[in-house]
Amino acid sequence: MALRSAGSGKVARDAVHHPPFARCYARISVNAETRMGMAGIRDRLLTGLSGRVIEIGAGNGLNFAHYPSSVSEVVAIEPERLLRTLAVDAGRRAEVPVDVVPGAAEALPVKSEAFDAAVLSLVMCSVRDVPRALGEVRRVLRPGGVVRFFEHGRGGGRAMLLTQRALDRTVWPLVSGGCHVSRDPVAAIREAGFELGPYRQVMMPENGPTLPSSYCFLGTAWRPSVSD
Ligand SMILES: C[S@@+](CC[C@H](N)C(=O)[O-])C[C@H]1O[C@@H](n2cnc3c(N)ncnc32)[C@H](O)[C@@H]1O
Repeated sequence: MALRSAGSGKVARDAVHHPPFARCYARISVNAETRMGMAGIRDRLLTGLSGRVIEIGAGNGLNFAHYPSSVSEVVAIEPERLLRTLAVDAGRRAEVPVDVVPGAAEALPVKSEAFDAAVLSLVMCSVRDVPRALGEVRRVLRPGGVVRFFEHGRGGGRAMLLTQRALDRTVWPLVSGGCHVSRDPVAAIREAGFELGPYRQVMMPENGPTLPSSYCFLGTAWRPSVSD
């Protein structure tokens, strides 16, 4: 949907515009909280965080209820209009202050070194430019700031890897809001200059069928303390 930017008279498009996917995600993500154990994953993703946090691609705001009270503020960036509206509602119900802001990972509308932590959950599969997005995360984190991630990516044996690549070149991004299944989020975080901390592979669903999107990685990384 087009946005009319104030004063200019020009019409700008939302950075991300996938209404059917957004409607679908709003429904299935809520079911996944209990049926796929996502609520527990979100707890593990966010436990121990403190200070100012930026969440990239916050979707309908399902992480918000899981932030610990040691978090002083969450700035939640979400480019998709329907999901952003739902995130605003979720932010009102959250126990920590949440500010939902339009924007895209590749050009975060915030100051440099302003955050103690950044949260990436199921978003690196969808951003248009992963190195640029991670460069932005690095810019807005203070030196020593932490990245918490829960991302799906490539995995499995040869047949699954070929399937993932074929899906990414054909239907998958079209039907799932620009998502890709053959990216390597852990390697991308390392290549963007973060110090990789502990991470583990989690299958989603844990006990269900193995899907091309099942190979998830839950972990931590840091912006190096020495400023560069
Ligand atoms: C699968 S949803 C995940 C939502 C949420 N992070 C969660 O954990 O439920 C992917 C999200 O990434 C957002 N997204 C897509 N491209 C993006 C971009 N370039 N910058 C920021 N967010 C983006 C989508 O609008 C959507 O909200």
